[in-house]
Amino acid sequence: MEKQTLFEIHQQSGNSFKTLAELHTPTGHFVKCTDSPQLGLIDINGNALQVGGLSMIGNVFNLFKDGDGQGMQMKIDLSPDNFVVYADPNQLVSVFNNLLKNGIQAIPDGREGKITVVLFQEEEMVCVKVTDNGVGISDDKKDKVFVPNFTTKSSGTGLGLAISKNIVESVNGEIFFHTVADVGTSFFVRLPIIRSGELEDAH
Ligand SMILES: Nc1ncnc2c1ncn2[C@@H]1O[C@H](COP(=O)(O)OP(=O)(O)OP(=O)(O)O)[C@@H](O)[C@H]1O
Ligand SMILES: [Mg+2]
Repeated sequence: MEKQTLFEIHQQSGNSFKTLAELHTPTGHFVKCTDSPQLGLIDINGNALQVGGLSMIGNVFNLFKDGDGQGMQMKIDLSPDNFVVYADPNQLVSVFNNLLKNGIQAIPDGREGKITVVLFQEEEMVCVKVTDNGVGISDDKKDKVFVPNFTTKSSGTGLGLAISKNIVESVNGEIFFHTVADVGTSFFVRLPIIRSGELEDAH
């Protein structure tokens, strides 16, 4: 993407985003699909707000840190680096909300849940990995989890992962998972890192 284009988009966004609290719906539901994305530069790691971005993954995690009231072990391991990505913050919050919620909901009764969030760099991408020790995704469901309306939950819409895939792929990212039946699942979200040098050049 052109540096100038990125800068212009950043300018158009008003150089500021709402606080994360304003972005969350009370239930953590997805922002309306009909909302047009408000793309901008976001510091996904919640460290220095070097480009007017906002704290992202750490804050989403904090919403779930008591294991959704179910006393799970929740661990987060953030890289000390800042990772600026180009995305809609509302949409990314929805993606991570759904991954954490799915992880917590995958823990079977009677098992002590362990959910971990790890953020790290892989070449030119930042990777967020959300791991649970839940039931896993069986072979017959592996092809279906990203299909709209596929759900195994009485209260689920089955849209969470389908929408997440659209969101992540619309900004040239990837979402995928590794799973072992009855051991657990890791979901990975990989997003291209926007280099601070690119922004400085644009100024
Ligand atoms: N971490 C996970 N472990 C096991 N199964 C999972 C996991 N994440 C997703 N799934 C499976 O994929 C299905 C689709 O997930 P998705 O997030 O799209 O919808 P949902 O969670 O069922 O509904 P909603 O997101 O509206 O609450 C789930 O119903 C579940 O069967
Ligand atoms: Mg879900």
